[in-house]
Amino acid sequence: FRKKLRISEIKGGLDEGLDRLGQTFVVKGWVRTVRVQSSVTFMEVNDGSCISNMQCVLDSTTEGYDQVESGFITTGASVWVQGVVVASQGSKQKVELKLQKVVVVGKSDPSYPVQKKRVSKEFLRTKAHLRPRTNTFGAVARVRNALAYATHKFFQENGFVWVSSPIITASDCEGAGEQFCVTTLIPSSGEAASSDVGSIPKTKEGFIDWSEDFFGKPAFLTVSGQLNAETYATALSDVYTFGPTFRAENSNTSRHLAEFWMIEPELAFADLDDDMSCATAYLQYVVRHILENCKEDMDFFNTWIEKGIIDRLTNLVDNDFVQLPYTDAIELLLRANKKFEYPVKWGSDLQSEHERYLTEEAFRGCPVIIRDYPRDIKAFYMRQNDDGKTVAAMDLLVPRIGELIGGSQREERLDYLEARLDDLKLNKDNYWWYLDLRRYGSVPHAGFGLGFERLVQFVTGIDNIRDAIPFPRSPGSAEF
Ligand code: 4AD
Ligand code: MG
Repeated sequence: FRKKLRISEIKGGLDEGLDRLGQTFVVKGWVRTVRVQSSVTFMEVNDGSCISNMQCVLDSTTEGYDQVESGFITTGASVWVQGVVVASQGSKQKVELKLQKVVVVGKSDPSYPVQKKRVSKEFLRTKAHLRPRTNTFGAVARVRNALAYATHKFFQENGFVWVSSPIITASDCEGAGEQFCVTTLIPSSGEAASSDVGSIPKTKEGFIDWSEDFFGKPAFLTVSGQLNAETYATALSDVYTFGPTFRAENSNTSRHLAEFWMIEPELAFADLDDDMSCATAYLQYVVRHILENCKEDMDFFNTWIEKGIIDRLTNLVDNDFVQLPYTDAIELLLRANKKFEYPVKWGSDLQSEHERYLTEEAFRGCPVIIRDYPRDIKAFYMRQNDDGKTVAAMDLLVPRIGELIGGSQREERLDYLEARLDDLKLNKDNYWWYLDLRRYGSVPHAGFGLGFERLVQFVTGIDNIRDAIPFPRSPGSAEF
């Protein structure tokens, strides 16, 4: 295998390509714009490696120039070009390629919907198969990739083991009943097997419904890998999951998806303070990584998507986060000289307007970790504090997004956990294996879950979570 030499590398030197003058390169990519003049044609090609296009200059000495004359070189077409790096007369780039040869690999129909002119993100959501060819979505994809890489790097460097948690499960980790049910339809004959898959939900004719029998009990798509991660943490000490999770929340907001990726570290022999330091170190690490490694894309977001985002992220990397008990946060909100739509009351969950006030106004852009929430608004597995009213939970809030991370120290005491399941009228039999962890060598342990798309949203500045994942799934949308 030989790695391709990409535009990012050709133009990536200190002099934006001037160090390569006179060298010959092949570029393979997609045409962004074409300007045909009387004796020369300028064509901008992007190969997905960076925001920068390679400006290519064609004239009658270019082999394949007839393809310009035939009108085959248009926006959206894929091309293979070979040329020599020369200094550019234009002001937009320092170098360009003077082409020796051009080959149109795939022509583009005139109906190509992603033309250079600025198109709205709403429109591009209906063209999710073509939107990665735009500057914004190319940059989001590269930054998302860099965040995933930095995530593995951070945990691996800190001795964590990556564990795959199952997607199909019988447990409801969060107990909120927001699960998608797995229906198991098996073709009952060879004829049915070859029928159009798209018709399955409409009719069960020709299929045997095995939903109850296949797994022996109702099965769902996982809402969180945490319970499974706890089993490995109580064997390997520090682990993390990184995979897709699913929630059937019928909320059409800019922060919720039906399918999203979650990063869930779980630390053994650890308490809530350890959990908060891990979350802080992780977030600072991945943000530093993209500031250092995705400079061009981050400059693009800073200019076009959210002005000042680079300064805000740099502050986050350099400063401690605020930590605040829930009870103090409530007091602060009550004292705030502000009218909230939802009442502020000890015992109620914070609404996004409250979260925004805390991160954006009270603590002026700094991430805020709220800890020790009332027991009754949190999940069954969180460790009860000595006051009998709160649990060792934490949420990390960031400006604009609100909750980026939710975590807790887990209840490691068997009697407390059983009592809590009884209080909530949850069937202990369903949690037999989870309770076993407390029977055999239980240890204090803690972990958190970070919504990966919210992280992408936070660092790129894009408004809507549907633009932070290649193919968003939300109520009414599962196309592509
Ligand atoms: O706060 P949540 O529900 O916590 C858990 O699932 C725990 N079991 C995690 C753990 O301790 N291992 O979800 C964790 C994070 C949230 O803070 C949010 O960032 C994200 O997951 N999240 C969503 N992201 C996009 N769309 C949704 N519908 C989300 N629901 C939660
Ligand atoms: Mg939460």
